[in-house]
Amino acid sequence: MLVLGAAGGVGHLAVQVAKARGAYVIGTASADKHDFLRGLGTDEAIDRAADIAKEARDIDVVLDVVLDLVGGTDRLRSLDTLGPGGVLVSSLPVDFDEVTRRAAELGVRATNIVVEHERAAMTGIATLAGSGRPRAHIAGTYPLAEVAKAHMDAEAGGALGKPVLTVRPWGPS
Ligand SMILES: NC(=O)c1ccc[n+]([C@@H]2O[C@H](COP(=O)([O-])OP(=O)(O)OC[C@H]3O[C@@H](n4cnc5c(N)ncnc54)[C@H](OP(=O)(O)O)[C@@H]3O)[C@@H](O)[C@H]2O)c1
Repeated sequence: MLVLGAAGGVGHLAVQVAKARGAYVIGTASADKHDFLRGLGTDEAIDRAADIAKEARDIDVVLDVVLDLVGGTDRLRSLDTLGPGGVLVSSLPVDFDEVTRRAAELGVRATNIVVEHERAAMTGIATLAGSGRPRAHIAGTYPLAEVAKAHMDAEAGGALGKPVLTVRPWGPS
């Protein structure tokens, strides 16, 4: 499995779930986040500034799944890394027509995913969490009044894991 944007809020959890399910996981992130990726169990880390498709193809594994959390040209080019019958799953719908066209040319699939509160999946995650994995890495905590700053920091791309908003208990303080 190749995870584009593996050190982010979604990616760092996806890596851990995939490892718990026995997958061989390749993750992309800025080079200064590669130690973090290895700490999550990522088998190989690729610098997001590199030619990701080439580097992934040079690793001697057949990729069944690309999980895309960044979009853009990396998403399009990552289709070339998939083996026969492989699938790209993207959390970003933008400009997806080009991706599906290229996937059809290559004989692979491309699809979007939208978060759903689906009982069977949530139960599976809860079971994993009960065994200590996946662990959410907290990028930083922000009071609710600073929610805009939390978003801006996340969009700036430097954070590891998930930002957390803290909410004061309801009632008189
Ligand atoms: N469809 C859904 O239901 C759903 C659910 C949740 C999230 N999302 C979307 O999925 C995406 C990821 O969410 P997230 O919470 O994981 O975001 P995030 O915490 O901001 O992580 C995204 C990661 O992508 C990398 N990145 C940022 N810009 C990049 C670029 N231009 N090229 C390559 N890599 C880049 C950054 O890591 P590096 O700096 O190390 O490269 C960052 O850690 C977001 O767009 C979010 O809106 C969709």
